This record gives sequence, C-alpha cells and structure tokens, in this order.
Amino acid sequence: MTRLGIGIAVAALVAVPLALAQPAGVPPTISDYWSWTRLNIDRSTDNPTGAHPQSKDIYINLDPAEIVAAGGQPIVPFPEGTIVVKERNDAGRLLVDRLYMMEKTGGAWVYRVFDRQADGSFRGQDYGTANFCRDCHAAAPTDFVFVQFERR
Ligand code: HEC
Repeated sequence: MTRLGIGIAVAALVAVPLALAQPAGVPPTISDYWSWTRLNIDRSTDNPTGAHPQSKDIYINLDPAEIVAAGGQPIVPFPEGTIVVKERNDAGRLLVDRLYMMEKTGGAWVYRVFDRQADGSFRGQDYGTANFCRDCHAAAPTDFVFVQFERR
C-alpha cells in the first residue's frame, strides 16, 4: 500500500470506521490508481524547474500491452476513458500532497488537480479541456502525454 493509501486507511479508520476505501475528495475512478500500471520505473524528478518540479510517480489505467506495441512503438492516440494520474510527493513530509489527472473524454484530455488539505482529504480543481495545462502538454511526444512507459 502506498503512503497515500495508508494515510487514507488510517484517516478512514479514525474518522469514519465504515467508510473505507475511498480517499475523501478523490473521484472513485482514480481511488485505486496505485494499483495501475506505473509508467516510470524510478521516481521521476525530470523537469526540475518546469511546471511540475517535485518528485513524482505516474500511473495509467491501461495494461502495458495497450501502451506499447510488440515492436516497442507507442500506441497512440490513447483510447477513450484513459486516465493518467501523476502523484506528487512532498519529500519533506513524506506524503502525497497533490494528484494531477488527465482523462480522455469525448476525444479530448480533461485536466484536473487534487490538493491534499490539512485534514488529509483532497480538494479538486477541474480545468476542463482548453487551458494552460493543455497548451503545454501539446508539445508532448505521444498524444499530450510526456512520460513514456519504461520497459522492465
Ligand atoms: C509548462 C508545461 C506544463 C504545464 C503548464 C502543465 N504540465 Fe503537466 N507535464 C509537463 C511535463 C514536462 C510533464 C512530464 C515531466 C514531469 O512530470 O515533470 C508533465 C506530466 C504530467 C502528467 C503525467 C503524464 C504526462 O504527460 O507525462 C500529468 C497527469 C500532468 N502533467 C497533468 C497536468 C495538469 C493537470 C496541468 C494543469 C493544471 C499540467 N499538467 C500543466 C508539463 C506541463
């Protein structure tokens, strides 16, 4: 279980014993993202001065065979319903403090951000499809997604 998962489980046990499993404020579609395929192998610290400077892990709700063809080439565009979650880690407090989310909906990526609050719950902000996130991600090599699946 990830630190986020443990924190949420503990918070849920303390606060609402019967309401397990779902981090408050995180949509059910990504509540088990840590069980998805991780795109990166080592924790990514790319882009130290860019939009997402902290260390992070990136998860996708697809199997490796749906991301990379047998010959190694990326399979794009990503299918409808694809979700990519980037978990940002606060190295000082050793916990996940923000989730970035991209979801393929109606052929376009919808961008969202969820920030951890003092009580451990997350508060989301929906940026929709046309925004500064999209404008920068348009430069990514594979259908607006920068981080590539690393074979292991
Ligand atoms: C100025 C450019 C820029 C902006 C603005 C930006 N991103 Fe990113 N994003 C990147 C880069 C570069 C990466 C890959 C390297 C990294 O994680 O730092 C990335 C990675 C991601 C990933 C992991 C999937 C991928 O593409 O590798 C998600 C999810 C994500 N960003 C969401 C968002 C959201 C949501 C916003 C808006 C709130 C946003 N980004 C704004 C440049 C940007």
